[in-house]
Amino acid sequence: MNRILACAAEELEDGEAMTVAGDHEAIAVYKVDGEFYATSDVCTHEKWSLGEEGDLDGFEVTCTLHNARFDVRDGKALCFPATVNLRRYATTVEDGKVYVLAGDHE
Ligand code: FES
Repeated sequence: MNRILACAAEELEDGEAMTVAGDHEAIAVYKVDGEFYATSDVCTHEKWSLGEEGDLDGFEVTCTLHNARFDVRDGKALCFPATVNLRRYATTVEDGKVYVLAGDHE
């Protein structure tokens, strides 16, 4: 399993997101209530970055291009126009650093 260093844990505030480079695709990392979640970064409707351009509210990220929403906990597409789920990645925090487990996606 490949671990990707995303950021220092204090780099993201609750309700914030960022995009990191993965091995095969860009990955969005979100912080909600002190926990970190990660999904594929690109909206499954068209190409739009959720980590950089998305609007995170609780566990839902809204794509700001056409307002599709996804659950960051499992990547589920919650409303039209997105019908395909995001890939979801596991995360772990060690020594104050956030890692995405890139081999562990669904
Ligand atoms: S690109 Fe995200 S909703 Fe259209």
